[in-house]
Amino acid sequence: MLNHEFLTVNNPSAEWWRKAVIYQVYPRSFADADGDGIGDLKGITEKLGSLSDLGIDAIWFSPFFKSPQKDAGYDISDYRLIDPIFGTNEDFDVLLAKAKTLGIRIIVDIVPNHTSDQHAWFQAALASAPGSAERDYYHFRDGKGENGELPPNNWQSIFGGPAWSRITEANGELGQWYLHLFDSSQPDLNWENPKIADEFDDILRFWLDKGVDGFRVDVAHGMVKRAGLPDATIYDENLRERPISNLTMAEAEEAVPYWGQPGVHDAIRRFRRIIDEYDDRAMCAEASMSPLPRLAMWVRPDEYHQSFNFDYMHSKYEAAAIKKIVTDSIVEYGKVGASSTWVLSNHDGIRHATRLGIAPENTPRPGDGIHPSDPAPDEALGLRRARAATAFMLGLPGSSYLYQGEELGLPEAWQLEGKYRQDPTYARTNGDRIGRDGCRVPLPWVADATESNGFNSTGKSWLPQPANYRVFARNLQEGVVGSTLELYKRLLKVRKQFDLGAGAFSWVDDYDSETSLSYINNGVLVITNFSGGPIAMPAGELLVTTQHDLTVEGILEHDQTVWLKLS
Ligand code: GLC
Repeated sequence: MLNHEFLTVNNPSAEWWRKAVIYQVYPRSFADADGDGIGDLKGITEKLGSLSDLGIDAIWFSPFFKSPQKDAGYDISDYRLIDPIFGTNEDFDVLLAKAKTLGIRIIVDIVPNHTSDQHAWFQAALASAPGSAERDYYHFRDGKGENGELPPNNWQSIFGGPAWSRITEANGELGQWYLHLFDSSQPDLNWENPKIADEFDDILRFWLDKGVDGFRVDVAHGMVKRAGLPDATIYDENLRERPISNLTMAEAEEAVPYWGQPGVHDAIRRFRRIIDEYDDRAMCAEASMSPLPRLAMWVRPDEYHQSFNFDYMHSKYEAAAIKKIVTDSIVEYGKVGASSTWVLSNHDGIRHATRLGIAPENTPRPGDGIHPSDPAPDEALGLRRARAATAFMLGLPGSSYLYQGEELGLPEAWQLEGKYRQDPTYARTNGDRIGRDGCRVPLPWVADATESNGFNSTGKSWLPQPANYRVFARNLQEGVVGSTLELYKRLLKVRKQFDLGAGAFSWVDDYDSETSLSYINNGVLVITNFSGGPIAMPAGELLVTTQHDLTVEGILEHDQTVWLKLS
């Protein structure tokens, strides 16, 4: 008899988002039908069958809207138009219709914290006088100093350098400053202005009317700034809240006056009211907030349905740390009636197949890539751990996010030459912070088909694939027992079969140690050996194993996860 106490209850009728496996497509790098080296919607539509085979429930698309692409599309100049590099609005309709026939839901990325500087609202603001209604769409302020030559406060851009830029007024003289928490091409919107909320009501409705199933909301924690825009008392260009986790909520709100301000919840509730006018839609917040009780406030019943669990993604690869974050997530989200989400990779971080092969002392800060001069990660160990960590994650109740390419075990392209790098972080810090391009390289589909391994038929690629991408090509893994692709398919199939996303979960103490964890979910026993010595497995039908190199039958090796059906 295993020793356990349930933390969740089985709830097969749970709404789809509570248990969905959501696959992130980064449109520039998924598949390129027109061969210009940048992925596009037609390319994605052609490959939708492969995602259906994988067994995912939904796709979240990083932005494909009209954009000067200064931050890979997170700088939007028209929220209702598909950027020509990705195709047309009709291409999107075709994609959506095909996804629906395959039973795949579609989530689009909404960026309400900032626009592109090329957006008509910002252009109108520049052409209007200080104090005008047009300027009030953004945060324009006079500078400090005798001639306004100093920025209005000490805030720093997440991408490096000051968070303010000064404009030249219509009369040719240097004038006001505008706020941009990210690149200078991404001015922050002023959510104190009720017109902004009206504009976003319409934008949300536009996509909901088209039939999308929901939104991922970018920088959801930054939309509302503290009144008066006071100086930050703690700042760091990539703060991401983590260093202030030990402050009280009120202290944190004051220390970092642009993250997690109380007023943001009104904006969220308004989004929620719009989305609730439609059936069965959901939205997920990119709110980089810590600790969990603070993040859980974002998913109260009238706010977001989900929020990304970045503490889980950034957790150390260690049994105790993972047990704590999983328990806290289930308990804290549960207190407000939400289910947890889980994620190991996305377009802003180092791919976990590489990250888990980096010695802890060499791990870069979140948002920074691996510098080509950093010690080389242990890629074989990283992949082995990534498979174990993914299998651990996909057995948990709640919704899991996957990032394109992780189903191939794709490593980070961390040795990209500087001349290819496009992340604004790289330019804004003169290459000091290498940025996120290494996780954004186009996918290899067919080994040797072209120089880009079948990403398109021309071999062009906006970021070149490293030589080692060839062996990860999808065609080399399709149908191959033990490949990472087949492992993901198996995990998703069994997860669905046992309804693990909405399952009854509890830790099982019998297999817990300093280096291993075990839990049971709907009759499936999951055991992960994180870097420890061999563990003897209990009896039961082996449903999944992340390694096929078991040396002794019934032994769980280091960095390996198994799923067993209890008899
Ligand atoms: C979010 C996105 C990131 C982008 C930033 C600014 O963090 O995930 O890619 O650079 O917002 O929009």
